[in-house]
Amino acid sequence: MSKTDNLILGPEAIEKMRIAGKLASDVLVMLDEHVKEGVTTEALNKLAHDYIVDVQGAIPAPLNYGHPPFPKSVCTSVNHVVCHGIPTDNKILKDGDIINIDVTVIKDGYYGDTSKMWIIGEGSIMAQRICDVAQKALYAGMAAVKNGAHLGDIGAAIQEVVEPERFSIVREFCGHGISNQFHHEPQVMHYGRKGTGMELKTGMTFTIEPMINQGTWKTKILPDQWTAITKDRKLSAQWEHTLMVTDNGCEVFTTRPEEDLSFLTA
Ligand code: MF3
Ligand code: CO
Ligand code: CO
Repeated sequence: MSKTDNLILGPEAIEKMRIAGKLASDVLVMLDEHVKEGVTTEALNKLAHDYIVDVQGAIPAPLNYGHPPFPKSVCTSVNHVVCHGIPTDNKILKDGDIINIDVTVIKDGYYGDTSKMWIIGEGSIMAQRICDVAQKALYAGMAAVKNGAHLGDIGAAIQEVVEPERFSIVREFCGHGISNQFHHEPQVMHYGRKGTGMELKTGMTFTIEPMINQGTWKTKILPDQWTAITKDRKLSAQWEHTLMVTDNGCEVFTTRPEEDLSFLTA
């Protein structure tokens, strides 16, 4: 019995992860038509909450999570907010904003965790570029996953996408093991060196969720003790998937219909 054997899921748990992952991605799809100029982040939170509870018969994992308890059912992170933004009635989306909505649902005891960016209206070239690079960074990290690879391969692949673009990678937050707990081992850094860190094994489940900043990678936490913002107030973007290591690559549990992940099996 090796030290990491408890991170490998059996067939019943894997099936539950597929279901939870699909539900989480369905929430992002449902939200799509509502994410537009004039909507408040609390209105988006309410839509997501009611859909998760009433339609999906699932639980929004962020609600009351942690210390102090997170007060809402999704995270909404606008512009210079890196992650863990708290939905409010007075945050109204305006033309040119970028927003990440991060959804985590619990179904039958298992978790699905995923997020994506939207640009309100056309957005600046910089807004478009940071959102695009953050998604490419996630995809590069995913492409590095397979049985026998190392955690450091994921971070190295992300760095190879982000650094030539002169963006920075947030270091204070990382991806995480996820299954019948929200956050468990391993910590999935979004920077690293090939061949270093834990060896990945078929059946391990975790998230990859790189946060990419326009300026400094440094963040600070607001007095609400949740909201993380960039120290220089420049833009930040993030995309997240929940996946499982397979013999030849990975199975993504939170794929949306609009996504073309065929590069993963190529
Ligand atoms: N969904 C976030 C993640 O990707 C965690 C949110 S914790 C919360 O890990 F309490 F802020 F919701
Ligand atoms: Co996560
Ligand atoms: Co998340």
